[in-house]
Amino acid sequence: MAEGYVVFGATGHVGRIVVTRLLEAGKKVRAVARSADKLKPLAGAGARILPGSVDDPAFLRLAFDGMKAAFVLLPPYLGAGIRAWQDRTAAALGDALEAAKVPYAVTLSSIGADRPSGNGPIAGLHALEARLDRIPNHSPLHLRPGYFFENNLGAIGLIKGMGSNGAALKPDLKMAHIATKDIGEAAARRLLALDWKGRLVQELQGERDLSMAEVTAVLGKAIGKPELKYVQFPYADAQKGLVQMGLPEEMAALYMDMSKGFNDGHLKPTQPRSAATTTPTSIERWAAEVFAPAFQQS
Ligand SMILES: NC(=O)c1ccc[n+]([C@@H]2O[C@H](COP(=O)([O-])OP(=O)(O)OC[C@H]3O[C@@H](n4cnc5c(N)ncnc54)[C@H](OP(=O)(O)O)[C@@H]3O)[C@@H](O)[C@H]2O)c1
Repeated sequence: MAEGYVVFGATGHVGRIVVTRLLEAGKKVRAVARSADKLKPLAGAGARILPGSVDDPAFLRLAFDGMKAAFVLLPPYLGAGIRAWQDRTAAALGDALEAAKVPYAVTLSSIGADRPSGNGPIAGLHALEARLDRIPNHSPLHLRPGYFFENNLGAIGLIKGMGSNGAALKPDLKMAHIATKDIGEAAARRLLALDWKGRLVQELQGERDLSMAEVTAVLGKAIGKPELKYVQFPYADAQKGLVQMGLPEEMAALYMDMSKGFNDGHLKPTQPRSAATTTPTSIERWAAEVFAPAFQQS
Protein backbone atom coordinates (compact mmCIF):
# COMPACT_ATOMS: atom_id res chain seq x y z
CA MET A 1 0.00 0.00 0.00
CA ALA A 2 1.17 3.49 -0.87
CA GLU A 3 2.29 5.49 2.14
CA GLY A 4 4.23 8.63 2.75
CA TYR A 5 4.12 12.18 1.44
CA VAL A 6 6.24 13.95 -1.12
CA VAL A 7 6.49 17.72 -0.74
CA PHE A 8 7.77 19.91 -3.59
CA GLY A 9 9.14 23.39 -2.86
CA ALA A 10 10.15 21.95 0.52
CA THR A 11 12.52 24.81 1.35
CA GLY A 12 10.12 27.54 0.17
CA HIS A 13 7.68 29.71 2.12
CA VAL A 14 4.77 27.29 1.89
CA GLY A 15 6.47 23.91 1.45
CA ARG A 16 8.67 24.15 4.53
CA ILE A 17 5.60 24.61 6.74
CA VAL A 18 4.00 21.58 5.07
CA VAL A 19 7.09 19.42 5.66
CA THR A 20 7.39 20.54 9.29
CA ARG A 21 3.76 19.81 10.15
CA LEU A 22 3.79 16.38 8.44
CA LEU A 23 6.97 15.40 10.30
CA GLU A 24 5.52 16.62 13.60
CA ALA A 25 2.56 14.31 12.96
CA GLY A 26 4.96 11.37 12.56
CA LYS A 27 4.52 10.98 8.80
CA LYS A 28 7.13 9.76 6.33
CA VAL A 29 8.10 12.73 4.18
CA ARG A 30 10.18 13.11 1.02
CA ALA A 31 11.31 16.74 0.77
CA VAL A 32 12.07 18.00 -2.75
CA ALA A 33 13.92 21.11 -3.97
CA ARG A 34 16.98 21.62 -6.15
CA SER A 35 19.47 22.72 -3.50
CA ALA A 36 20.73 19.80 -1.39
CA ASP A 37 22.36 22.29 0.99
CA LYS A 38 19.09 24.06 1.75
CA LEU A 39 17.34 20.69 2.20
CA LYS A 40 19.88 19.50 4.81
CA PRO A 41 18.09 20.95 7.89
CA LEU A 42 14.95 19.05 6.83
CA ALA A 43 16.96 15.81 6.83
CA GLY A 44 17.99 16.69 10.38
CA ALA A 45 14.30 17.04 11.24
CA GLY A 46 13.54 13.56 9.91
CA ALA A 47 12.63 14.04 6.23
CA ARG A 48 14.15 12.01 3.42
CA ILE A 49 15.60 14.69 1.19
CA LEU A 50 15.47 14.34 -2.56
CA PRO A 51 17.30 17.05 -4.52
CA GLY A 52 16.10 17.47 -8.09
CA SER A 53 14.14 19.63 -10.49
CA VAL A 54 10.40 19.68 -11.06
CA ASP A 55 10.95 19.92 -14.83
CA ASP A 56 12.83 16.58 -15.01
CA PRO A 57 10.33 13.80 -15.92
CA ALA A 58 12.63 10.93 -14.86
CA PHE A 59 13.22 12.59 -11.48
CA LEU A 60 9.47 13.12 -11.01
CA ARG A 61 8.81 9.39 -11.50
CA LEU A 62 11.30 8.65 -8.73
CA ALA A 63 9.89 11.34 -6.44
CA PHE A 64 6.27 10.14 -6.68
CA ASP A 65 6.99 6.39 -6.59
CA GLY A 66 5.06 4.68 -3.77
CA MET A 67 3.64 7.91 -2.34
CA LYS A 68 0.12 8.25 -0.91
CA ALA A 69 -0.08 12.01 -1.34
CA ALA A 70 1.88 14.88 -2.89
CA PHE A 71 2.15 18.62 -2.37
CA VAL A 72 2.99 20.14 -5.74
CA LEU A 73 3.63 23.63 -7.07
CA LEU A 74 4.98 25.41 -10.11
CA PRO A 75 8.00 27.17 -8.62
CA PRO A 76 9.05 30.59 -9.87
CA TYR A 77 10.96 30.16 -13.16
CA LEU A 78 12.90 33.00 -14.74
CA GLY A 79 14.53 31.27 -17.73
CA ALA A 80 13.59 31.73 -21.38
CA GLY A 81 10.04 30.81 -22.41
CA ILE A 82 8.33 31.05 -19.00
CA ARG A 83 4.78 30.13 -20.04
CA ALA A 84 5.98 27.24 -22.20
CA TRP A 85 8.09 25.96 -19.27
CA GLN A 86 5.08 26.14 -16.96
CA ASP A 87 2.88 24.18 -19.37
CA ARG A 88 5.58 21.54 -19.95
CA THR A 89 6.18 21.22 -16.21
CA ALA A 90 2.45 21.00 -15.41
CA ALA A 91 2.17 18.18 -17.98
CA ALA A 92 5.23 16.40 -16.58
CA LEU A 93 3.88 16.59 -13.01
CA GLY A 94 0.53 15.19 -14.17
CA ASP A 95 2.13 12.42 -16.23
CA ALA A 96 4.32 11.34 -13.31
CA LEU A 97 1.49 11.45 -10.73
CA GLU A 98 -0.62 9.37 -13.09
CA ALA A 99 2.14 6.83 -13.81
CA ALA A 100 2.90 6.42 -10.10
CA LYS A 101 -0.85 6.17 -9.29
CA VAL A 102 -0.57 8.64 -6.41
CA PRO A 103 -4.09 8.79 -4.92
CA TYR A 104 -4.01 12.38 -3.57
CA ALA A 105 -2.37 15.71 -4.42
CA VAL A 106 -2.65 19.20 -2.99
CA THR A 107 -1.63 21.88 -5.48
CA LEU A 108 -0.39 25.36 -4.62
CA SER A 109 -2.61 27.16 -7.13
CA SER A 110 -3.98 30.72 -6.97
CA ILE A 111 -7.09 32.84 -7.04
CA GLY A 112 -7.54 33.52 -10.77
CA ALA A 113 -6.61 29.96 -11.80
CA ASP A 114 -10.22 29.38 -12.87
CA ARG A 115 -9.30 31.51 -15.93
CA PRO A 116 -7.23 30.04 -18.79
CA SER A 117 -5.78 33.44 -19.80
CA GLY A 118 -5.71 37.13 -18.89
CA ASN A 119 -4.00 36.12 -15.64
CA GLY A 120 -0.25 36.24 -16.41
CA PRO A 121 1.75 33.49 -14.65
CA ILE A 122 -1.47 32.12 -13.09
CA ALA A 123 -2.27 30.60 -16.51
CA GLY A 124 0.38 27.98 -15.69
CA LEU A 125 -1.55 27.08 -12.53
CA HIS A 126 -4.74 26.75 -14.59
CA ALA A 127 -2.84 24.24 -16.78
CA LEU A 128 -1.56 22.39 -13.70
CA GLU A 129 -5.05 22.07 -12.23
CA ALA A 130 -6.50 20.93 -15.56
CA ARG A 131 -3.83 18.24 -16.04
CA LEU A 132 -4.32 16.78 -12.56
CA ASP A 133 -8.11 16.85 -13.01
CA ARG A 134 -7.72 14.39 -15.90
CA ILE A 135 -5.89 11.70 -13.88
CA PRO A 136 -8.12 8.66 -13.32
CA ASN A 137 -8.71 7.58 -9.70
CA HIS A 138 -6.87 10.64 -8.41
CA SER A 139 -8.15 13.25 -5.95
CA PRO A 140 -6.53 16.68 -6.46
CA LEU A 141 -7.27 19.49 -3.99
CA HIS A 142 -6.44 22.82 -5.57
CA LEU A 143 -5.61 25.38 -2.91
CA ARG A 144 -6.18 28.83 -4.40
CA PRO A 145 -4.63 31.48 -2.14
CA GLY A 146 -4.70 35.21 -2.73
CA TYR A 147 -1.80 37.63 -3.16
CA PHE A 148 1.08 36.70 -0.82
CA PHE A 149 1.99 39.21 1.93
CA GLU A 150 5.58 38.12 1.14
CA ASN A 151 5.36 39.91 -2.24
CA ASN A 152 5.76 43.12 -0.21
CA LEU A 153 9.32 42.11 0.72
CA GLY A 154 10.20 42.88 -2.91
CA ALA A 155 9.11 46.51 -2.37
CA ILE A 156 11.67 47.23 0.38
CA GLY A 157 14.19 48.63 -2.14
CA LEU A 158 11.52 50.88 -3.66
CA ILE A 159 10.35 52.12 -0.26
CA LYS A 160 13.92 52.88 0.80
CA GLY A 161 14.80 54.50 -2.54
CA MET A 162 11.60 56.40 -3.37
CA GLY A 163 10.01 56.86 0.03
CA SER A 164 6.76 55.31 -1.21
CA ASN A 165 5.36 51.90 -2.16
CA GLY A 166 4.08 51.32 -5.67
CA ALA A 167 2.98 48.85 -8.33
CA ALA A 168 0.42 48.52 -11.12
CA LEU A 169 -2.47 47.38 -8.90
CA LYS A 170 -5.16 49.99 -8.20
CA PRO A 171 -4.68 51.60 -4.78
CA ASP A 172 -8.24 51.02 -3.54
CA LEU A 173 -8.93 47.61 -5.08
CA LYS A 174 -9.92 45.20 -2.29
CA MET A 175 -8.29 41.81 -2.81
CA ALA A 176 -7.46 38.65 -0.89
CA HIS A 177 -3.96 39.05 0.62
CA ILE A 178 -2.50 36.19 2.68
CA ALA A 179 0.50 35.08 4.77
CA THR A 180 2.30 32.12 3.19
CA LYS A 181 2.50 30.46 6.64
CA ASP A 182 -1.30 30.19 6.66
CA ILE A 183 -1.24 28.47 3.25
CA GLY A 184 1.28 25.92 4.55
CA GLU A 185 -0.85 25.27 7.63
CA ALA A 186 -3.99 24.78 5.50
CA ALA A 187 -2.18 22.45 3.08
CA ALA A 188 -0.76 20.37 5.94
CA ARG A 189 -4.17 20.07 7.62
CA ARG A 190 -5.77 18.74 4.44
CA LEU A 191 -2.83 16.40 3.71
CA LEU A 192 -3.05 14.93 7.21
CA ALA A 193 -6.83 14.51 6.99
CA LEU A 194 -7.07 13.33 3.33
CA ASP A 195 -10.76 14.01 3.79
CA TRP A 196 -11.93 14.60 0.21
CA LYS A 197 -12.59 12.42 -2.84
CA GLY A 198 -12.35 13.58 -6.44
CA ARG A 199 -11.52 17.13 -7.52
CA LEU A 200 -11.86 19.93 -4.98
CA VAL A 201 -11.04 23.65 -5.05
CA GLN A 202 -10.44 25.57 -1.82
CA GLU A 203 -9.74 29.28 -1.91
CA LEU A 204 -7.68 30.87 0.86
CA GLN A 205 -8.59 34.54 1.10
CA GLY A 206 -6.49 35.74 4.03
CA GLU A 207 -7.74 37.32 7.27
CA ARG A 208 -9.72 40.08 5.50
CA ASP A 209 -9.86 41.77 2.10
CA LEU A 210 -7.30 44.55 1.74
CA SER A 211 -6.34 47.21 -0.77
CA MET A 212 -2.72 48.11 -1.59
CA ALA A 213 -3.32 51.51 0.06
CA GLU A 214 -4.38 49.75 3.28
CA VAL A 215 -1.49 47.27 3.13
CA THR A 216 0.97 50.12 2.61
CA ALA A 217 -0.43 52.08 5.57
CA VAL A 218 0.08 49.06 7.85
CA LEU A 219 3.60 48.42 6.54
CA GLY A 220 4.47 52.09 6.98
CA LYS A 221 3.30 52.10 10.59
CA ALA A 222 5.31 48.94 11.32
CA ILE A 223 8.57 50.52 10.05
CA GLY A 224 8.03 53.87 11.76
CA LYS A 225 6.93 55.66 8.56
CA PRO A 226 3.21 56.25 9.14
CA GLU A 227 3.14 58.70 6.20
CA LEU A 228 4.11 55.93 3.69
CA LYS A 229 1.88 56.10 0.60
CA TYR A 230 1.07 53.70 -2.23
CA VAL A 231 1.42 54.99 -5.80
CA GLN A 232 -0.21 53.23 -8.76
CA PHE A 233 2.23 53.13 -11.70
CA PRO A 234 1.05 53.05 -15.33
CA TYR A 235 1.51 49.51 -16.69
CA ALA A 236 4.39 50.52 -18.99
CA ASP A 237 6.31 52.15 -16.11
CA ALA A 238 5.67 49.27 -13.72
CA GLN A 239 6.85 46.79 -16.36
CA LYS A 240 10.01 48.82 -17.00
CA GLY A 241 10.66 49.00 -13.25
CA LEU A 242 10.44 45.22 -12.88
CA VAL A 243 12.92 44.75 -15.72
CA GLN A 244 15.28 47.27 -14.08
CA MET A 245 15.01 45.18 -10.90
CA GLY A 246 16.30 42.20 -12.90
CA LEU A 247 13.13 40.36 -13.99
CA PRO A 248 13.07 38.95 -17.54
CA GLU A 249 10.90 40.94 -20.01
CA GLU A 250 8.48 38.02 -20.32
CA MET A 251 7.85 37.78 -16.58
CA ALA A 252 7.42 41.56 -16.27
CA ALA A 253 4.84 41.42 -19.09
CA LEU A 254 3.08 38.46 -17.43
CA TYR A 255 2.85 40.42 -14.16
CA MET A 256 1.21 43.30 -16.04
CA ASP A 257 -1.29 40.89 -17.62
CA MET A 258 -2.10 39.62 -14.11
CA SER A 259 -2.33 43.14 -12.62
CA LYS A 260 -4.76 44.17 -15.39
CA GLY A 261 -6.77 41.03 -14.68
CA PHE A 262 -7.16 41.99 -11.01
CA ASN A 263 -7.72 45.71 -11.71
CA ASP A 264 -10.44 44.97 -14.29
CA GLY A 265 -12.26 42.41 -12.11
CA HIS A 266 -11.43 39.54 -14.49
CA LEU A 267 -9.60 37.80 -11.62
CA LYS A 268 -11.46 37.46 -8.33
CA PRO A 269 -12.49 34.86 -5.78
CA THR A 270 -15.15 32.36 -6.86
CA GLN A 271 -16.08 31.26 -3.32
CA PRO A 272 -17.75 33.33 -0.60
CA ARG A 273 -15.66 34.43 2.38
CA SER A 274 -16.32 31.87 5.11
CA ALA A 275 -14.55 30.09 7.96
CA ALA A 276 -13.14 27.69 5.34
CA THR A 277 -11.67 30.41 3.11
CA THR A 278 -10.52 32.80 5.88
CA THR A 279 -7.04 32.41 7.42
CA PRO A 280 -5.78 33.78 10.75
CA THR A 281 -2.72 35.97 10.15
CA SER A 282 -3.52 39.69 9.85
CA ILE A 283 -1.40 42.12 7.85
CA GLU A 284 -0.66 43.94 11.13
CA ARG A 285 0.84 40.80 12.66
CA TRP A 286 2.79 39.90 9.52
CA ALA A 287 4.11 43.47 9.22
CA ALA A 288 5.38 43.37 12.81
CA GLU A 289 6.81 39.85 12.72
CA VAL A 290 8.19 39.58 9.17
CA PHE A 291 8.21 42.88 7.25
CA ALA A 292 9.62 45.24 9.87
CA PRO A 293 12.60 42.98 10.80
CA ALA A 294 13.34 42.38 7.07
CA PHE A 295 13.15 46.15 6.41
CA GLN A 296 15.51 46.97 9.29
CA GLN A 297 18.01 44.29 8.23
CA SER A 298 18.12 45.21 4.54
N1 LIG B 1 3.31 35.30 -5.02
C1 LIG B 1 2.00 35.19 -4.96
O1 LIG B 1 1.27 36.16 -4.64
C2 LIG B 1 1.35 33.87 -5.29
C3 LIG B 1 -0.03 33.75 -5.19
C4 LIG B 1 -0.64 32.52 -5.46
C5 LIG B 1 0.16 31.42 -5.81
N2 LIG B 1 1.52 31.57 -5.91
C6 LIG B 1 2.33 30.37 -6.27
O2 LIG B 1 3.26 30.14 -5.21
C7 LIG B 1 4.52 29.75 -5.77
C8 LIG B 1 5.66 30.08 -4.83
O3 LIG B 1 5.49 29.40 -3.59
P1 LIG B 1 6.50 29.71 -2.37
O4 LIG B 1 6.46 31.19 -2.09
O5 LIG B 1 6.23 28.75 -1.29
O6 LIG B 1 7.86 29.34 -3.06
P2 LIG B 1 9.31 29.98 -2.80
O7 LIG B 1 9.42 30.45 -1.39
O8 LIG B 1 9.59 30.90 -3.94
O9 LIG B 1 10.24 28.70 -2.93
C9 LIG B 1 10.29 27.92 -4.10
C10 LIG B 1 10.62 26.48 -3.68
O10 LIG B 1 10.67 25.67 -4.84
C11 LIG B 1 12.01 25.17 -5.02
N3 LIG B 1 12.27 25.21 -6.47
C12 LIG B 1 12.49 26.29 -7.25
N4 LIG B 1 12.67 25.91 -8.53
C13 LIG B 1 12.59 24.55 -8.54
C14 LIG B 1 12.71 23.57 -9.55
N5 LIG B 1 12.95 23.89 -10.84
N6 LIG B 1 12.57 22.27 -9.21
C15 LIG B 1 12.32 21.89 -7.92
N7 LIG B 1 12.18 22.79 -6.92
C16 LIG B 1 12.32 24.10 -7.23
C17 LIG B 1 12.90 26.09 -4.21
O11 LIG B 1 14.10 25.48 -3.81
P3 LIG B 1 15.39 25.44 -4.83
O12 LIG B 1 15.54 26.84 -5.35
O13 LIG B 1 16.52 24.95 -3.99
O14 LIG B 1 15.01 24.47 -5.90
C18 LIG B 1 11.98 26.34 -3.02
O15 LIG B 1 11.96 25.21 -2.17
C19 LIG B 1 4.60 30.54 -7.08
O16 LIG B 1 5.49 29.93 -7.99
C20 LIG B 1 3.15 30.56 -7.55
O17 LIG B 1 2.91 29.44 -8.39
C21 LIG B 1 2.11 32.75 -5.65
